[in-house]
Order: sequence, then structure tokens, then C-alpha cells
Amino acid sequence: MKKACVIGWPIEHSRSPLIHNYWLKKHGIDATYEKQAIEPENAAQFIAALAVSEFVGCNVTIPHKETAFQAVAETDKIAGRLGAVNTVYVRNGKACGTNTDGEGFIASLHHAYPAFGLKNKAAIIIGAGGAAKAIIGALIDAGVARIGIINRTRARILDLQAQFGSQIIEINETAANDALAACDLLVNTTSLGMEGGTEIALDIQHLKRNALVADIIYVPLETALLAKAKQLGHPVLGGLGMLLHQAVRGFELWFGVKPEVTEELHDLVAADVQKASKQ
Ligand code: ATR
Repeated sequence: MKKACVIGWPIEHSRSPLIHNYWLKKHGIDATYEKQAIEPENAAQFIAALAVSEFVGCNVTIPHKETAFQAVAETDKIAGRLGAVNTVYVRNGKACGTNTDGEGFIASLHHAYPAFGLKNKAAIIIGAGGAAKAIIGALIDAGVARIGIINRTRARILDLQAQFGSQIIEINETAANDALAACDLLVNTTSLGMEGGTEIALDIQHLKRNALVADIIYVPLETALLAKAKQLGHPVLGGLGMLLHQAVRGFELWFGVKPEVTEELHDLVAADVQKASKQ
């Protein structure tokens, strides 16, 4: 029987087993997907040994994505650009690494708003960490013209400019309102807005009419940023869709079937998130 897993530290709250076991059942595949709590000092060894283990692959979550990038035998272009791996699969006896975070975001966007085009659009990303980089790379590949970055630490914006070039624009506080007025897509990639944490301070009153506002946070399912955007009449996109869509390629690589992100799966995971946040 095939086995796959998700590794992280801590790992208790991962929803990946819920997603992959739903698809395994749906497709009648005799396999299991489980959580593996792997301590940081053991992550490199676990991944390097995956090719000779009982697992056909794994998902990698915080804090092991960079370690996984180092530990696999081969990486593709997307993982190389990010220096981070979230999906490992075994091919020809080797552990190979890719990253599906960026495509997960784009697929979620297209799924929710099929008519929303990205070509030549202007985006603003809040944050400049790993998740921001994955989404920036995917937006550039999708033809977005300009990407403004708002981030607490300026040096990380400059790093993004060095990597992605002149399409990346630094947005400081004084330029924020003008940038928002010209923006088609605003995405929060920071942890600001997570349940029990600090909210984003950004005022979106001046955001262009009809601009889409997205958050990668899914606990809560609707962040204060999204609630505010909705109230102002903007289309909004929560983070749960990205979580579901980033899982698609891993499942296909391990089990040979491209699974679908159904309404039923969405509701199943949403209910689990809601149940946990009530505790
Ligand atoms: P991830 O891989 O999830 O993107 P990360 O690489 O640690 O995580 O990036 C976290 C992002 O959230 C960064 O942009 C970080 O800002 P800094 O670059 O200034 O660290 C942002 N972030 C996290 N906590 C924040 C806070 N309290 N205020 C402002 N920004 C914060």
C-alpha cells in the first residue's frame, strides 16, 4: 500500500491529511496520508531518506521548506527560484522537490473568479517572506505588469527587487494611497490578521474600485482585511482555496490522478477550521 505524509514541527494543526484522505477515498485509491511530526534536527535526514522509505512522497510545512530544498536530490525551476520545497516525490529512486504554493494561489483565484485576468495588471503584496515570493513568481509568470510591495523590513523588498527585477516596486507609507488607487489585486501574505494576533494597519479606503482583495490566512476563514474589503464592495478571496489548490499537484505526482477541488472538500476543511477556532 502506498503511503504519503506531511512533515512539520509542530504538525497537529495541518489540514493536509483531511484533504488528501478525502481524495484517496473519492478515487478509491488504497493508500494512506498521515502527519509526521519531525523535529528540525531530523528533517534533512527524513527527506534525504524518503527515496528508500515506505513513502512515495510528502508535503513539507513550517519550518522545513528550506531544509527540504537542501535535502532533496533534485529540484525544479519553481523550487529553485524560491529556495523552498513544499512537495517531495520519489522518481527513479531519487527524492525530488517542487513548490506548489504559487500555483495554488493562482488556481484558487481562477477557481473563484474565472473571469479575472492577470495579464498587464497591477498587484500589491503585503509581506516579503517565503509566501510572498511564491505568489510574486506565479503572478509574474501569469503576466502581471507591476507588483508593489509593502513590508515592515525594507531590506527584504530590495532583495525581491534584486531577484525579480524592475517589476517589483517598493511602496512606502507616503506612496501607499496612490498605489492602492492604481491596484487591481491586493494580497496579504503576512501572518497579520491570524486568529488571536495583530490586525493589518493598512487603510484600504483608497483602493481602486473592483480591485480583488486576497488573504492567504485561512484561520479565520475571513480575516478583518477581507471583511473590510467586502464591506467596501470589493471581491474577496480567503486563504483556504490556496491551501486546497496547492495540494493538487502533490496528489497527482504520488498517486497518478489529478484530483478536483470540489465544493464538498472546501466545506469539509472549512468546517474543520471553524470547529478548531471555536475551541
Ligand atoms: P512566510 O514563509 O510564511 O511568508 P516569513 O518568510 O517569515 O513567512 O515572512 C513573514 C512576513 O510577514 C514578512 O513579510 C514579515 O515582515 P518582515 O519582513 O518585516 O519580517 C511579515 N510579518 C510578520 N509579522 C509581522 C508583524 N508583526 N508586523 C509586520 N509584518 C510582519
